[in-house]
Amino acid sequence: MAELTINRLGHLGDGIADEGTLVPLSLPGEVVRGEVTGGRMEAPAIVTPSAERVAAPCRHFPACGGCGLQHGADGFVAGWKEGVVRAALTARKVAAEFRPIVTSPARSRRRAVLSGRRTKKGALVGFHARRSDTVIEVPECLLVTPAILAARETLIEMTRAGGSRKGEIAYTVTETRGGLDVAATGGKPMDPALNADLVRLAHAGRLARLSWNGEPVVTLTAPQVAFDGVAVTLPPGAFLQATVAGETALRNGVTQAVGAARQIADLFAGCGTFALPLSRRAQVHAVEGDGAMIAALDAGWRAGQDLHAVSGEVRDLFRRPLMAGDLKRFDAVVIDPPRAGAQAQVTELAASTVPVVAAVSCNPVSFARDAEILIAGGLRLDWVQVVDQFRWSPHVELVARFVRD
Ligand SMILES: C[S@@+](CC[C@H](N)C(=O)[O-])C[C@H]1O[C@@H](n2cnc3c(N)ncnc32)[C@H](O)[C@@H]1O
Repeated sequence: MAELTINRLGHLGDGIADEGTLVPLSLPGEVVRGEVTGGRMEAPAIVTPSAERVAAPCRHFPACGGCGLQHGADGFVAGWKEGVVRAALTARKVAAEFRPIVTSPARSRRRAVLSGRRTKKGALVGFHARRSDTVIEVPECLLVTPAILAARETLIEMTRAGGSRKGEIAYTVTETRGGLDVAATGGKPMDPALNADLVRLAHAGRLARLSWNGEPVVTLTAPQVAFDGVAVTLPPGAFLQATVAGETALRNGVTQAVGAARQIADLFAGCGTFALPLSRRAQVHAVEGDGAMIAALDAGWRAGQDLHAVSGEVRDLFRRPLMAGDLKRFDAVVIDPPRAGAQAQVTELAASTVPVVAAVSCNPVSFARDAEILIAGGLRLDWVQVVDQFRWSPHVELVARFVRD
């Protein structure tokens, strides 16, 4: 048995004791006691609790691994997330002014990956236990929207029909205006009987669309979302911001950042989360690596009303970034890359004359690296805002404004 004092939380939300041991479910300043194996104290007894410790709001915590930080007060978690961004920027010697964090409410996650497993008696659907492939049922989950939670019975029936005792089905469930869009992978190979069962269950569960192992099974209504009122039908597997509140906060940040710009490039544009609302006031060139998402964005624009011109380009921005010369025609650029960041593209932005960059990021470390490149190219980091759409998890997202003075 060891007794340790927690010094800080690591980037995955685990406590780190003075001498480096990882202690899940602990908070800075706490004294904990337990067995240490392989550098981890997996089941700490809390000897001296932190003043920031709270009773977890969800009864499935901490058995369910879907949430990692329910034992910390909301204000503590918000401050910790901001601190993660500050630390990443400080490591690159970048100073920043922070706007207040925006945290998505409970029960607002409109996209989640649930796991389904056949059992001797029937089937289980839920989230994985912490660091385990055991599936924990979560009938009172506080994370996902009520519509996603209500689909549990349908997913359990699907797992009975199409799951095997050996494998696990991953259900990517997205709430859309037309109902739930469900993409299942890892189920039994399709055959006529399974197809009939799945179509019946999709109807009974009022799903918008169901696909199985990458193949469409049935579309009952278009899986549409609206980006600030502009409707887009999502292609299967398309990127979508995790909560409506998070999307709104990011869009507000981006809109304020670009200000009165009339010619905007939206890089890593997805299905048009930012490009389509921005086209109410400016012409937008949207660039994205996935052709299906650009096609969805284009169809949304064609069906939209009172929008300025939007052009779409399918392009790999890691290998073929828009060059500094191509960027001359834009008076603002929005950039929202995947976790790896956008080193090649920000190098071109740094070398360009673009006066304003609105940056969205889901990785403070790659954001800080890219910020350093932009600043070396003559842009100034005007402000940063943390947007927490992955409540109770260690994920951190942000929006920021860079300006060339
Ligand atoms: C974080 S998402 C943002 C999407 C969009 N801005 C939104 O808010 O919905 C990143 C996007 O980058 C796209 N992407 C990933 N790698 C890319 C690449 N090498 N070139 C262009 N786009 C890429 C993904 O398909 C995804 O749509």
